[in-house]
Amino acid sequence: MSAIDDITIELNGEEQTFSVEPGVPLRDAIRNELELTGTKEACEVGECGSCMTLVEGTPVKSCLIPAHQADGKAVTTVEGLADRSDDGEDLHPVQEGFIEEFGMQCGYCTPGFVVSSVAMLEENPDPSREEMKQYLKGNLCRCTGYTKIFDAVEHAAEQYDG
Ligand code: FES
Ligand code: FES
Repeated sequence: MSAIDDITIELNGEEQTFSVEPGVPLRDAIRNELELTGTKEACEVGECGSCMTLVEGTPVKSCLIPAHQADGKAVTTVEGLADRSDDGEDLHPVQEGFIEEFGMQCGYCTPGFVVSSVAMLEENPDPSREEMKQYLKGNLCRCTGYTKIFDAVEHAAEQYDG
C-alpha cells in the first residue's frame, strides 16, 4: 500500500483530486495542496475555530479531521461562500454583515466565524443573541470582544429575513 493516497473532494463546488499523506489534517490539505488560505491555522488542537469549514454542510474544525475523512464529500471554505454565478461576485450576507458592522480587527478569526455563522443561519435564520453565543462558542476572537461579531451576524440575519 502506498503511503500517499489520492482523495477526491468537491471543494466549493468543484471536484478536486489530489495526493495527501495519511493523517494530514483537512485544514493543511486545503491550505497547502489546494492553495486556499482562507481556512486559518492557529491553535492546532480544536479550540479556536479559525479553521472551520463545512463538510456536507456541517461546520467542522478542519484541523481535527484527517483529509482522508473528507474523501468523496462536499467541502465548503470561506472562499466558496460568495455567489459567483453571474459575471461579478456577490458576497454572502454574512460576509456583508462583517463588513457593514466592522465585525473584525486583525481578521484572523473572521473566516471561521463567517463559516460557522452561515451554518447557524441555515439552521436558524433568526437567532437570539443567546443562541448566537451558544452556536458560536467554538469560535474564539482575541480582538473584538464579540459584540461587533454578533452585530454582524444579526445584520446578516436581517437579510435572511428579507
Ligand atoms: S486551528 Fe483548528 S480549531 Fe484552532
Ligand atoms: S479579529 Fe483578531 S482574533 Fe478576531
